[in-house]
Amino acid sequence: MSIQSEKIKQLVERRASACLGGGREKIEAQHSKGKLTARERLALLLDEGSFEEFDMFVQHNCTNFGMDSTHIDGDGVVTGQGTIDGRPVFVFAQDFTVNGGSLSKTMSGKICKVMDMAVKAGAPVIGLNDSGGARIQEGIDALAGYGEIFERNILASGVIPQISGIFGPCAGGAVYSPALTDFTFMVRDKSYMFLTGPSVVKSVTGEEVSQEELGGASVHCSKSGVAHFCAADEKEGIEGIRTLLSFLPQNNLEEAPVKETSDPVSRVSDVLNGIIPDNPNKSYDMYGVISEIVDDANFFEVHRDFAKNVIVGFAHMGGRSVGIVANQPGMLAGVLDINASRKAARFVRFCDAFNIPIVSLVDVPGFLCGTQQEYGAIISNGAKLLYAYGEATVPKVTVTLRKSYGGAHIVMGCKQLRADVNYAWPSAEIAVMGAKGAVGILKDVQEEEYQELFCNPYQAAQKGYIEDVIEPRNTRFRIIRALEYLQGKRQELPAKKHDNLPL
Ligand code: HXC
Repeated sequence: MSIQSEKIKQLVERRASACLGGGREKIEAQHSKGKLTARERLALLLDEGSFEEFDMFVQHNCTNFGMDSTHIDGDGVVTGQGTIDGRPVFVFAQDFTVNGGSLSKTMSGKICKVMDMAVKAGAPVIGLNDSGGARIQEGIDALAGYGEIFERNILASGVIPQISGIFGPCAGGAVYSPALTDFTFMVRDKSYMFLTGPSVVKSVTGEEVSQEELGGASVHCSKSGVAHFCAADEKEGIEGIRTLLSFLPQNNLEEAPVKETSDPVSRVSDVLNGIIPDNPNKSYDMYGVISEIVDDANFFEVHRDFAKNVIVGFAHMGGRSVGIVANQPGMLAGVLDINASRKAARFVRFCDAFNIPIVSLVDVPGFLCGTQQEYGAIISNGAKLLYAYGEATVPKVTVTLRKSYGGAHIVMGCKQLRADVNYAWPSAEIAVMGAKGAVGILKDVQEEEYQELFCNPYQAAQKGYIEDVIEPRNTRFRIIRALEYLQGKRQELPAKKHDNLPL
């Protein structure tokens, strides 16, 4: 064998060994927990044959606690570049088979490198987390490694889409990197996120709680809102990441890709003319409205299980990506509370940062009142949504379907928050409050008189607060036409260092 051939053989062998991470036994242990390895996850995530790995031979340089005798090529994270539907993305996937995927300084260096490359190239970065947290043997070096990642998450925020998959443990300060990214996917019964695990919780507070109850997917996707998508298994989670990206631009200077559709722009939906119940206190399902107006009834919902009184998600309309924000009369009558406000605000801000027009479908009786909400700062949280709509400069089209009362009317993309086009259905009621509430306060006003005056869209239309009262069946066409003529919209905010969003 020539020297060259021998060297090539060594390279092939070393690569093969690096691909095994912590070794066959650890891979089996990973599989026996029903989990995929880092490389298997990347193979599912990226277009076939598109992955180019970086830093495969990087090793840690820790010498504490005998670590100098255990070096594994790659050091617990697989990083690189590939494509999803032909578009470039940068990726890192922590490898639990190597020291439990714990974060060393060199692992951090690898992650930071792909993050830097992603920003330079203007392409999304996707991180698949499966880690025991800071590598304990490294002490402050591991913590510094986290700090470097967090700073990059912050600098990349609003520049490129950042997506996190949590496919195993994500504990301690490690949770803050996913929290700083735009969207987080979790897997039911397989992944968890918490600041401290059950044993520490027990010793500090005496509370006994399982990992799942403390920080499983069910908690973060439905109670805390920390995660946006709860997948049944890893495959579904990875498929979700691919689908999400299909609605997004590569970076903040680009537009999302256009998706060809055979669904006619001019399609009318007669069903919408009959969707609003005669009884104003009866609910209906806003999903039914959304699927009627978007291309091919295809709606990709974000935060489906959290704060269900407001619905947010992506769709295509006339082939173009839109962000939909809709009150859900079928849940708590569509009232805005703390969680609904936080959820919608973050979504609106994402859309604005990435040039995705916002379509708002309004049927909201107001903000939820009471001590629980006041003590939880509904004022500041409601203001977040107000702020998000008011600062957004992307095209904003608002359709009021039924109720639009009080502060909630203003918050939900009203004209004064610089919505571009506001439509209302004939069933719209745009007023300070509903008739019953109003006659309770104004003793000498009759309910019928109030209803006659305010419980319709025409007062708002007379004053130019809405552009038009439209037939519900034409909603799809009217929104798409508005988005078309708004495509060239340019709106600036006053010069400032940054805003002071009411956090
Ligand atoms: C070094 C670690 C490690 C860590 C796990 N391992 N966590 N090595 N540093 N943080 C190693 C284990 O020693 C073991 O090595 C292998 O990974 C697999 O771990 P197991 O415990 O056998 O796996 P499992 O039973 O599945 O339990 C997983 C786990 C548990 C729940 C994650 O390992 C665990 O509790 N780890 C510690 C979690 C933690 O408290 N981390 C610090 C959080 S604070 P061998 O050689 O036996 O295979 C933090 C601060 C960040 O991260 C601050 C940022 C600002």
